[in-house]
Amino acid sequence: MSQSIFEQVKKLIAEIQQFSITDQATAEQFRTQYIGSKNVIKPIFSLIGQVPADRKKEFGQLVNQAKQTAEEKWAAYSDNLNSDAGSSAFHQDMTMPVMGKPGTKHPITIVLDQIVSIFEKIGFEVAEDMEIEDDWNNFTALNTPEDHPARDMQDTFYLKDFAGRLLRTHTSSVQSRFMSKHKPPIRILAPGKVYRNETISARSHCQFHQVEGLYIDKSVSMADLKQTLLYFAKEMFGSDTKIRLRPSYFPFTEPSAEMDIYWGLKDATDHRITKGTGWLEILGCGMVDPAVLSNCGINPNEYSGFAFGMGIERQAMLLYKIPDIRYYFENDLRFLNQF
Ligand code: DAH
Repeated sequence: MSQSIFEQVKKLIAEIQQFSITDQATAEQFRTQYIGSKNVIKPIFSLIGQVPADRKKEFGQLVNQAKQTAEEKWAAYSDNLNSDAGSSAFHQDMTMPVMGKPGTKHPITIVLDQIVSIFEKIGFEVAEDMEIEDDWNNFTALNTPEDHPARDMQDTFYLKDFAGRLLRTHTSSVQSRFMSKHKPPIRILAPGKVYRNETISARSHCQFHQVEGLYIDKSVSMADLKQTLLYFAKEMFGSDTKIRLRPSYFPFTEPSAEMDIYWGLKDATDHRITKGTGWLEILGCGMVDPAVLSNCGINPNEYSGFAFGMGIERQAMLLYKIPDIRYYFENDLRFLNQF
């Protein structure tokens, strides 16, 4: 009997030595089995009663050896983890197990991809450009007057070390960059990040995403704009979606409009987000101002066009019922894993 207890402890020691801790799950398994308060070594000590008196000391030493082996192995693993975290700039725990799916798309990416594929079907091409902009492309070329409030330090992040450079406040800057380099016909979609000096809250953030659309050709009309936007709204929000264009003002379009979609009044949230009207604003748009075409080297007597710009966060919030814009940028896995 006692012989087999000795054998069992020896086997246990070998088992501990051979145990390989490869990730967080196996580490946790090792900890509960050999280190934690309910470890398998502890109860073995009490078996000493069954051991003949002349071998009790030997037995005690053997069980202690098992305990020590486990503790040393655990200490080595923990040291390794800590030194990895401290010594490198890469602070990820690489032993974290992959939980089922190795990664998911961010909701902003999902909605952006969807918008891009809707417009690609009608011949729009993606044209991305820089986020650090100059005054010309972000404001002046787009007919934004010197004293326009958007240029204000309160709204725009200016980069101190790069004379006159700023973080683009809208993707409209891509309009000017693209038109200066390409001849019509132009049919582009410019998705990307934009920045504004806003107080961060549930509804606004200092960084967000927009998609810009630009279409320049001979005899492009307001009817083309409306039809394009109606097509988009139906593809994005469902085939019975209704739209309306409300007159508005943007420096770079004339006439300018804002587009609402009819969201409906199905529940209390709908009432709140549509302020009881059922209508929701989705984007700004208009016919490109002839002054903008001239600024970018396109003859306004020969060509005309339309442009539109829309926010992505807002649309993703509607489609996925996301209550707070800050969720997008916090990288909380409990949020991200839902997509
Ligand atoms: N750039 C505008 C904004 O950030 C959105 C916009 C409005 C873009 C009208 C356009 C447009 O292209 O025609 O609020």
